[in-house]
Amino acid sequence: MNDLVIANGLVVLPEGPRKADVIISGEMIAGIAEPGTGRGERVVDAGGRIVLPAGVDPHVHLLVGFMGQRSVYDFESGGIAALRGGTTAIVDFALQRRGGSILKGFHYRRKQADEFVTLDYGLHQIITDVNKDSLAELAQLRADGVASLKVYMIYEDDGLKLEDGQLHALMQQAAKDDLMLVLHAENAGIIERLRAEAVAAGHTHPRWHALTRPPITEVEAIQRAILFSEDTGCGVHILHLVAKGGLPLIEAARRRGLPVTAETCTHYLALDESALERDNPHEYVMSPPLRSPDNQAALWEALKSGVLSAVTSDEVSYSAAAKAMGAGSFATIANGCTGIEARLPVLYTLGVAQGRLSLQRFAELFSTWPADIFGFGDRKGRIAPGYDADLVVIDPETRRTMGRHSDYGDIGYNPYEGMELTGWARQTIYRGKVVVEDGKFLGTRGQGRFLKRGAPRRPHIAPDGGAAA
Ligand code: URP
Ligand code: ZN
Ligand code: ZN
Repeated sequence: MNDLVIANGLVVLPEGPRKADVIISGEMIAGIAEPGTGRGERVVDAGGRIVLPAGVDPHVHLLVGFMGQRSVYDFESGGIAALRGGTTAIVDFALQRRGGSILKGFHYRRKQADEFVTLDYGLHQIITDVNKDSLAELAQLRADGVASLKVYMIYEDDGLKLEDGQLHALMQQAAKDDLMLVLHAENAGIIERLRAEAVAAGHTHPRWHALTRPPITEVEAIQRAILFSEDTGCGVHILHLVAKGGLPLIEAARRRGLPVTAETCTHYLALDESALERDNPHEYVMSPPLRSPDNQAALWEALKSGVLSAVTSDEVSYSAAAKAMGAGSFATIANGCTGIEARLPVLYTLGVAQGRLSLQRFAELFSTWPADIFGFGDRKGRIAPGYDADLVVIDPETRRTMGRHSDYGDIGYNPYEGMELTGWARQTIYRGKVVVEDGKFLGTRGQGRFLKRGAPRRPHIAPDGGAAA
């Protein structure tokens, strides 16, 4: 007897959506059957609902400290928020401290996560110091299941930035050790000068966060990253792309067959720079900054055409109080915003319900392509026999308006406040078990597992502008 059947839903299969039953045995998908024919110990009726591969969010900062503040979400609570938003696998970050060992940073992060984590996770390793010893650690890091290194091209004050010479050397070694890079791509020199000038002139309003990070600073850094990728052969994924000028660079690189991909984030699709003129502008400070609506329109085109390969949350759950602490000057506001749970209803509503994305493309951006790019693609990201039984059943009818406070994991504000959203998760199924039902967490602390990641599979970009898995 099968353990669980998700019956009668519109199931988004790799080849397209159709009405079907998903049959689950243990932790795995056992088969796909005609609607109403599946038999199992428990049957969840998904009639009138949509069954998607559960989300894979490869850009998440849980239990993080940055710019003097600490996030609210840890690996337990942040994992529950993710599950409530239909996401069952994330990639978070381990940190090499300057002057310290990479492997030490990795094992420290595993310790912080393993006992508490409530969903499957992998780690990007942040590299802050490139030298003979640290480069020699990379092969072991890859053997331990890390497939990607994170580099900040900015944030020297926080001990994170790598100089170009170090970045290039790291990429040369990473290519040899089968590691790719994920990059925070911003031009430090221009931004540091503009910030110093703005501060000296007494400009404190949060809008100056955006004014001191003009699009050229993002676009130039993306171009540099692509050139380094071509020169070293090291794969590159551009994080949180928002400047439209970066898109033709990504498209051209991919069409030339370079190992380059890019994502944008939920907040860049839902919000534009006008949020920085609201009553609480410091709550909308993240890097790169919110930009003008024509950038948003270009991002949607790129999601539709497949030039962009993922929509991630870049989850950073600073509380309203923590954000407000820096509000005296744009230069002291802790960067980042929350979205690990909202990623599903925001992307579904703006994308599918408002006609910008097909259901299939939604599933690819939310789950399939991030799973493939980040090395989970042989077990996550698809509803198919042999894959992990990680699914989310969403309700395309129920509409709810986001309030300032959420019923779970309230951080004191909500960047999506006031948006009327649909596509909320009714059930999230993780490794064959219903772990969230109507917002209630039914799982246990520590149920998540660290996943050793495989090689990246990058979605093809088709000559006609479409994309194929
Ligand atoms: O503003 C942001 N994005 N904060 C989070 C850390 C990062 O740069 O991704
Ligand atoms: Zn970043
Ligand atoms: Zn980030």
